[in-house]
Amino acid sequence: MNKIKKLFSKKDINNRVKELSKELYDAYGHDKVVFICTLKGAVFFACDLLKNYKGNARLEFLRVSSYKGDKSTGKVELNLSISKEVIEKENIVIIEDIVDTGNTLKFLKEYLSNMNPKSIKIITLLNKKSRREVDIEADYTGFEIDDLFVVGYGLDYNQEYRNLPYIGVIKS
Ligand code: IMP
Ligand code: MG
Repeated sequence: MNKIKKLFSKKDINNRVKELSKELYDAYGHDKVVFICTLKGAVFFACDLLKNYKGNARLEFLRVSSYKGDKSTGKVELNLSISKEVIEKENIVIIEDIVDTGNTLKFLKEYLSNMNPKSIKIITLLNKKSRREVDIEADYTGFEIDDLFVVGYGLDYNQEYRNLPYIGVIKS
């Protein structure tokens, strides 16, 4: 395994995730929320976020892909879909690992909006604002980062490094 330069420790992530869970609870209270976790990158984040969430939550999964190695292809593909009954008239929160060009999120928001949810919001653990190609922002963000390719805590490089308990950059 290559050496990794740590950006956010397990403790940094843990603390921030707890704050985000509370922010969400403050926003929704006991109204039902259908959380949509995007596979595979957001899985660790979604689990921790929901374990700390005190409201009425459901959990669903969607799978999209746009990356090959560390390059975005710009073309978003849906690999696992969701049925309309799950989304219609519900409060939806999309859980993302990272917003980069914004193409994935734009695609997902349009896809889910077409199923007539009551409301739709986005939470992302990481945001690379300087890389945005389309006009979309998350409603809740864990950490802002520079234009770096990061791995760990669910994020991969060619499907590896997801199991790191912290987030970092591969040293070349
Ligand atoms: P976007 O469509 O360009 O915003 O890319 C979003 C997706 O690309 C994310 O959900 C990640 O799965 C992946 N991605 C973007 N940047 C990184 C990174 O730095 N590390 C690992 N995956 C990334
Ligand atoms: Mg993702």
